[in-house]
Amino acid sequence: MTAQEIRQAYLQFFAERGHTIIPRAQLVPYNDPTTLFTGSGMQPLIPYLLGEPHPSGTRLVDSQTCLRAQDIEEVGDNRHTTFFEMLGNWSLGDYFKAEQLAWFFEFLTKVVKLDPAKLYVTCFIGDEANGISKDTESSKIWVELFKNEGIEANEIEIGSEADGYAKGMQNGRVFYYDAHKNWWCRAGSIDHMPEGEPGGPDSEVFYRFYEREHNAAEKRQYGEHCHPNCDCGQFVEIGNSVFMEYIKRADCFEKLPKRNVDFGGGLERIAAASLGDPDVFMISLLQPIIVKLEEISGRKYESHTESMRVITDHLRAATFLAVDGVKPSNKEQGYVMRRLVRRAIRHAFELGIEQNFLEQVVPVITGLYREELPEVLSKQEEVIEVLVKEERVFRQTLRKGLREFDKAYPADGTHGIVGSQKKAKSIPAEAHNLQIDGAILFKLYDTYGFPLELSLEEAFKRGIFVPDYAKQEFERLMQEQRQRSQTAGKGVFKGGLGGQSLIHKKYHTATHLMYQALRDVLGTHVVQNGSNITEERLRFDFSHPKKMTPEEIKKVEDIVNEQIKNDLKVSYEEYLTEVALEKGALGQFGDRYGDTVKVYKMIAENAQQPFSFEICGGPHVEHTGQLAEGNKQFKIIKEESSGAGIRRIKAVLL
Ligand code: ALA
Repeated sequence: MTAQEIRQAYLQFFAERGHTIIPRAQLVPYNDPTTLFTGSGMQPLIPYLLGEPHPSGTRLVDSQTCLRAQDIEEVGDNRHTTFFEMLGNWSLGDYFKAEQLAWFFEFLTKVVKLDPAKLYVTCFIGDEANGISKDTESSKIWVELFKNEGIEANEIEIGSEADGYAKGMQNGRVFYYDAHKNWWCRAGSIDHMPEGEPGGPDSEVFYRFYEREHNAAEKRQYGEHCHPNCDCGQFVEIGNSVFMEYIKRADCFEKLPKRNVDFGGGLERIAAASLGDPDVFMISLLQPIIVKLEEISGRKYESHTESMRVITDHLRAATFLAVDGVKPSNKEQGYVMRRLVRRAIRHAFELGIEQNFLEQVVPVITGLYREELPEVLSKQEEVIEVLVKEERVFRQTLRKGLREFDKAYPADGTHGIVGSQKKAKSIPAEAHNLQIDGAILFKLYDTYGFPLELSLEEAFKRGIFVPDYAKQEFERLMQEQRQRSQTAGKGVFKGGLGGQSLIHKKYHTATHLMYQALRDVLGTHVVQNGSNITEERLRFDFSHPKKMTPEEIKKVEDIVNEQIKNDLKVSYEEYLTEVALEKGALGQFGDRYGDTVKVYKMIAENAQQPFSFEICGGPHVEHTGQLAEGNKQFKIIKEESSGAGIRRIKAVLL
């Protein structure tokens, strides 16, 4: 089944069993300052798990979009993603273990049709210190469920994770683990629960993708034997039923007034199990994004697996953050979003994608949620605008930082250079004489806006050692810097126009007017992709998902002719590039500018805001009225496709 089908089937399965389908909560929790993101399905339901009546009753089901920013570094293997959907069903003091475990088992084996022989489960072994008993009830239910499928399920006492590596599978099916593995609460551990926090024993279901003894490398990395909670990839957890019936008090655990079930299942992982492929990036909600990256980069997933996974995950996460109203910034949710987008762009460099690509990838992502989450598609244009802006600012920053890095530490071929696939992971950094100092880290940050995280990554790739004192020095210089103002850059962008004749200038000015008119008519997702001017016509490529209608073409022509008639004054000013981009200046080259740029402004007399504000080397006419000389009119003579999601216009002054 596709992920979309599984989501739908799950909601329906539980709806048929008396559950009300509730909408997903936003990624930024409402009224909950304790956490940046919604990281599990139960988070928005805490008050109801604690006893408040829910307006939709005692049986609820949903698919909750979740973000776990703490997993950013894990992304790149075959199963970790920062963003995922958690299928959730809840009993608020209604049904309990017997129904929950049987239903989930039925859903997996009868609806998704997973082979029950590939399912393994875990239960809580008990916690004497806290007076919580062993969950033999769940274990008995599992044994029975497997027996009905003709599978004899042996119960095995494991204990801790370390015990698991020592004891191994022992031909077991139901495994008992301690509170570090089979107790769930938001605090992550039974030992760290604050007073008033609900929690309880849980029972996890694992899908076994393949079967073999640990090889030598796995023995070293994980432990002697594999077991369900081992992280080698053989077993992947696909669902967790939490029996939430306790609340933490000052010095003990008390029973909650009602026994709840809080179930969470990873949609992406269940879909991977359904495909029988442990790589979650191959499921129907992720693979189309990979395919798009292959298409844009001309590289293969097989040879660029990690980067494509990181880009895919991070852009999906950033897209949903944008849908839920987050904007990249330097704090809180915005900071995480900025990090996600910037890491994705860094990895895009590894694929050789060096020009704006977000406007091509984001529509693929939003399209995947077209049916089920209409708000994602309806906000597509805003989302593209927010992300494209961040991409432009960052690419500019990045180019300069990398140039500086190259100057300070010329790559000698042995350390792997930017854009190459060589990684220095096998070379212990300490073995190199090259060391980076805090002053350079600071210069990269301060003058070139290169984030510390990226400097560290870049140093690592080149086998350059970063001693702790360098990081401390960086922090100290940062402190000092907070007192001072920013320094200015030097280079100047030189406009790259082929011709300088008056007709060239006119078409050039007409291009600016048309670009703005296209954005006014079609939306701000319109981003320039290319431009070419001859004595005969202008040609302009831009991002837009569909053919323009005759009405839209007419509107654009009318706006341009109107602005010609208004005789806008054309002038330019020079800005620091980042400042120009932050001010929202449009530009032909996305991010490929020097430190400062000319920004051309076209503004009507007495107007507050310019009609057009665009980075450009010029030259232009001085007044847009000049375009009408000889009684000429602006006219679009052709509108056609110029690649996936890209349109091409040819226009003339006639
Ligand atoms: N709240 C439980 C989890 O997130 C279901 O795993």
